[in-house]
Amino acid sequence: MDRREFVKGTAWMGAAAFAVGCTTERGLGLSRVGKMSTFAVKPFEKLRIGVVGLGRGYAGVCGFDMIPGCEVTAICDLNAARIKKSLDHIEKSNRPKPAVYTGGPEEWKRLCDDPNVDLVYNATPWQLHAPVALYAMQHAGKHVVTEVPSALTVDHCWELVETAEKYGLHCMQLENCCYGENEMLILNLCRKGMLGELVHAEGAYIHDLRTYNWGKWNDKGSNPSVDPETGYPAYWNYWRLRHNAVHKGNQYPTHGLGPICWYMDINRGDRFDYLVSLESNQLNFEAFAKARFATDGWQANQKVQMGDMNTTLIKTKRGRSILIQHDVSSPRPYSRLNSITGTKGAVLDFPLRIVWEDKPGAGAHAFFDKDKLAEVCEKYKHPLWRQAGDIAKRTGGHGGMDFLMLLRLAYCLQNGLPLDQSVYDLASWCCLCELTEKSVRNRSCSVDIPDFTRGGWETAKPIDNITVDLEKMGGKA
Ligand SMILES: NC(=O)c1ccc[n+]([C@@H]2O[C@H](COP(=O)([O-])OP(=O)(O)OC[C@H]3O[C@@H](n4cnc5c(N)ncnc54)[C@H](O)[C@@H]3O)[C@@H](O)[C@H]2O)c1
Repeated sequence: MDRREFVKGTAWMGAAAFAVGCTTERGLGLSRVGKMSTFAVKPFEKLRIGVVGLGRGYAGVCGFDMIPGCEVTAICDLNAARIKKSLDHIEKSNRPKPAVYTGGPEEWKRLCDDPNVDLVYNATPWQLHAPVALYAMQHAGKHVVTEVPSALTVDHCWELVETAEKYGLHCMQLENCCYGENEMLILNLCRKGMLGELVHAEGAYIHDLRTYNWGKWNDKGSNPSVDPETGYPAYWNYWRLRHNAVHKGNQYPTHGLGPICWYMDINRGDRFDYLVSLESNQLNFEAFAKARFATDGWQANQKVQMGDMNTTLIKTKRGRSILIQHDVSSPRPYSRLNSITGTKGAVLDFPLRIVWEDKPGAGAHAFFDKDKLAEVCEKYKHPLWRQAGDIAKRTGGHGGMDFLMLLRLAYCLQNGLPLDQSVYDLASWCCLCELTEKSVRNRSCSVDIPDFTRGGWETAKPIDNITVDLEKMGGKA
């Protein structure tokens, strides 16, 4: 790809994706308010999954492969090597061969239409998330789960909510970080009241992704070298760089935010009210390309609009504050911050530190020491981690969280239970992509955050009992 082709792509996306004005109110109460918070469908005896996008989606293929009662019945990707890798894995596990959809950019529609697919698992690049999910529900009548962020615009968020409500279908975002060991430990501490009334939380996605954005370089520093498996120089068609090059704001907000929303019962007793967003200048994206690639190549001359560090503050209806950061271009170690403060104590993560007062007003000036921390972690380990943490860790996938998310998803669908993340969660977490950009481009003005539950948040119950019955699951075919 040369620079002209790249720019052509970014111009198209910029025009399509960003508008200063956006819809913040929608829906005239055509359907019962907030009904998707407790939405459940008839139990699936056997759950048949179609996976689209086999980069991240390969983890889905391997994960479902291990869960009794689940079968990957269809796969779709443009890339032959990725199709082969999934087929090889399925064959090695002695599972039935899935239908294969490949060879064209709209083959995913055929996967959605496949009568042997109950659930579409969408792990495509961001730009395809909402289109695939909407088609799966509107045209194929399928439940759909989508990688993060599941939507990039407020309009798409509303459309996903209204479609799921209208057709009575699950539309869940695959926010795996909600199932992290520390995140679920903190959730348990919050539920047990160990931190008191919650006041403030901080989350982030701080991850140096410059090689993924720009591609790897070869020894001569000229054209990027390609991935030997896929033939791609970076992500497929530079989808992440294309997006970041023409956007500001937090375009990947949910890894830090999702767990906080569980701690704070967002959409289930509280909700986002408004946000302000501010961002630093951008030096690191372009400096990296200049340092790594030939001076006359398109990379060294490509402009990127996204600031290196975006900081967003959210105020909730119950008066709490949330700080969310995004930085994928600075040379610094990974962090999701994952911190929460209440009236009795606080937890800070990366690395994990916990403290609470011995008695009210005693103060908490130093975190628990190593022994006390270990004792607290063991005592308050989340029940899901107690049940399946060992298997999850052995399976891998971001320390086990990926497997626990799939396990819990399968368990809920096999038992006719509501899913842990509703379509309202998807919409209220993802609308930040557009709304933070709107704030950043307008001198950090405050922007209202829509109530996608249309009042349902006031009566919806906090999610609880996030557990599985492994014995019952083991009995499935
Ligand atoms: N939750 C997590 O921890 C996590 C981790 C990694 C990636 N992700 C998300 O997963 C998604 C995919 O990321 P990735 O790292 O796999 O990217 P990738 O570029 O490596 O893979 C995308 C795949 O989609 C395929 N594809 C593109 N257009 C297609 C089309 N029209 N039809 C069929 N296939 C198509 C490509 O061939 C490629 O194999 C992104 O949304 C990303 O944010 C999430």
